[in-house]
Amino acid sequence: MFFAQEEAGRLGDNYVSVEHLLLGLITDSESASARILRGMGASLNEIRTQVEQQVPRRDARLGQDMQLTPRAKRVIDLAYDEARQLRHDHIGSEHLLLGVIREGDSAAGRVLANMGVDIERAREIATGSDKVQQHAGGTAEEAEAVSDLLSVAGMSEDDKRRARDLIARLRSGGVAKVSTSGETVSCLRTTQLRGRDLLSIADLNAEEIDLVFSTAALLKQGVKEKRSQSSLLEDKTLAMIFEKPSLRTRVTFEVAMTQLGGHAIYLQPSDISLGVRESIADAARNLERWVDVIMARVFSHNTVAELAEHARIPVINALSDLEHPCQALADVYTIREHKGELKGLKLAYVGDGNNCCNSLLLLAAKVGTSMSVGCPKGFEPNPDIVAAAKKLVEETGAVIEITDDPAAAVKDADAVYTDVWASMGQESEKAEREKIFPPYQVNDELLKHAKEDAIFLHCLPAHRGEEVTDEVMDGPHSVVFDEAENRLHVQKALLVLLVEG
Ligand code: CP
Ligand code: NVA
Repeated sequence: MFFAQEEAGRLGDNYVSVEHLLLGLITDSESASARILRGMGASLNEIRTQVEQQVPRRDARLGQDMQLTPRAKRVIDLAYDEARQLRHDHIGSEHLLLGVIREGDSAAGRVLANMGVDIERAREIATGSDKVQQHAGGTAEEAEAVSDLLSVAGMSEDDKRRARDLIARLRSGGVAKVSTSGETVSCLRTTQLRGRDLLSIADLNAEEIDLVFSTAALLKQGVKEKRSQSSLLEDKTLAMIFEKPSLRTRVTFEVAMTQLGGHAIYLQPSDISLGVRESIADAARNLERWVDVIMARVFSHNTVAELAEHARIPVINALSDLEHPCQALADVYTIREHKGELKGLKLAYVGDGNNCCNSLLLLAAKVGTSMSVGCPKGFEPNPDIVAAAKKLVEETGAVIEITDDPAAAVKDADAVYTDVWASMGQESEKAEREKIFPPYQVNDELLKHAKEDAIFLHCLPAHRGEEVTDEVMDGPHSVVFDEAENRLHVQKALLVLLVEG
């Protein structure tokens, strides 16, 4: 009420109207009402602009007593009614907002209705946020999840507030099933990832990988249900540095930022000439002043590592000569979608032991999937990564093996993966490699060694007729376009989890 009176006074009115009430409700962007509105995809700035356009400017005498207009009084009555219905023993900004929405006849109510704010969703968010915030009510499962969450060691009050806010926003952004125990706890742990870099799969532990996957699943569901997610990264900017070409990575990161309410800036090689026009460190020190997160596709892994070292904002590796972590996350997420449980599965990788293979080895090992790499001698994955993956599976019981026999690699596999024989930057070796790699082509004959229901994956772009045949790419085992789609959902999860709220 105090903020509403302030608004009325500022606009020269002696009466507090519904419009003043609404302006007051969004004055504090962290209030429950503001969070509900943001959660429904409504922009607080836009509400303020539109409502102010509807409010007549008057010239009231200062010091005169403030009174409520009849309509504003009705909003207060409705707020009491909402609180009663929700079994709350207090009147908060969320109840007043519900009152404004219900009193649909006012200019403020119309502005909200035009922005797609509806009473059912608002109540749902109000109830959900409240359950999390008050650690009370809801199902036994929710109560347990919340108590788990709040007892996470070392979580500051500020972190708890951010986590609760994120849950409320995820839930309202279509992430409706966030209320189940595991997911809620996962979301609460988001504070662990906030502000971090993703240069390698080694940067994530098993719990964090699970969090990325659960968040991606929830965001994907939200997209399918056509719910707005534009409050999740509202006003945030991603700088996308590309030293190499791209279709999937560029488009999915850019669409991700659009869907999350932020913005992406594409920087092609000639725009910044990283390390030539100025040092990598200086480019990082500039970018961190303007944007909230950087993704970089680079030739040398050292370049993305140096960017991360000098930028105090998250840096995401969008492919280097050593790793392609975003790809591997989307790949394994796709396997999870098609096969369910990841533990106990066998993934076969056939072809060049390159960046994708390296990231997959680390990721498979972390999630308990066995991985068999069939590659020509001299084209094995990075030996340090193979050693790290072998060490990791000591705890999970999975198996990591490297062989030069493609049929042995594929034997009884649940998923078969391949990639180009010559990666970007290896164009001069293409002709030589084309002589070595044909036995490693993934074709129907090779797939016969896998399980009958095996799926086929490829990071794409595919060189049809080289590492894979048309019959496999377009055949019943292929899930390559699901995989490409999942780049979007997984990267959205990464952005939501890494970028400061
Ligand atoms: N898989 C992948 O990273 O594709 P692009 O090279 O098109 O980005
Ligand atoms: N290994 C390939 C992957 C392309 C997405 C490359 O680095 O070119």
